[in-house]
Amino acid sequence: MDNAVINNILTRRSIRKYKSKQITDNVLEQILNSGINAPSALNKQPWQIRVIQDKNTLSEINRIFVDWAKGKQLPGSAARAQEDGFSVFHNAPTLLIIAADADNHYSEGDCGMLTQNILLAAHSLDIGTCVIGSIATVVNESETLMKDILSIPDNYKVIFGIAMGYADETPQAKYRDRQNVKFL
Ligand SMILES: Cc1cc2nc3c(=O)[nH]c(=O)nc-3n(C[C@H](O)[C@H](O)[C@H](O)COP(=O)(O)O)c2cc1C
Repeated sequence: MDNAVINNILTRRSIRKYKSKQITDNVLEQILNSGINAPSALNKQPWQIRVIQDKNTLSEINRIFVDWAKGKQLPGSAARAQEDGFSVFHNAPTLLIIAADADNHYSEGDCGMLTQNILLAAHSLDIGTCVIGSIATVVNESETLMKDILSIPDNYKVIFGIAMGYADETPQAKYRDRQNVKFL
C-alpha cells in the first residue's frame, strides 16, 4: 500500500505489552495536538483529556481498579484483575483519560474522533496505544479519582482511557466483517 494515511490506518493494532521507556514530551505534544484537531459538533470540543505519567499515580489508578474488580466477572483482560502484576492499562508508561461533556448530545462521538486521531497520530510516530474502556466505570464511581487525582469537572463523564508507549509486541490484525458494509 503506497498511501501513507491508509497504510497507517490498516497497520494500527491495540498494544497490550509496552516497554518501560517513556515517550518524549515533543512526541506526546504532537499526538495531543492531533487529537484536539479532530472534528466536533459545532466545534464545541466537548472533551477533557488527562495525561498521567507519574508512576505513583498510575499505580494508584490501577490499585483502585483492582479493588473495584474484586468479585466481579469482567470481560476481556480485566477478567485477570486479581492476578499478580495485572495492570488495567497493560503497564503502559503513559495513560490518557478521556472524559465527555455529559450535557452535550454529541460528546461521546466527538471523543471517539479525538481518540482515533490520537491512536493514528501515535502509530504514525511508532507509539503503541490501546483504548481502555474497562477503566471508565471505576473512575466515574471514584470521587478520589474524579476530583482529587484527575480534576474532572462535575458535568463530565470518563468514557475511556488510552494506554500509550513503545510497543513490546507486534500483534496480528484481527478479523473485520466486510458484511457490515452494504451498497444499496
Ligand atoms: C471503546 C473501546 C474500549 C476498549 N476497551 C479495552 C479494554 O478495556 N482493554 C483492552 O485491552 N482493550 C480494549 N479495547 C481494544 C479492543 O479490544 C480492540 O480495539 C479490538 O479488539 C480490535 O483490535 P485492534 O485495535 O488491534 O484492531 C477497546 C477498544 C475500544 C474501541
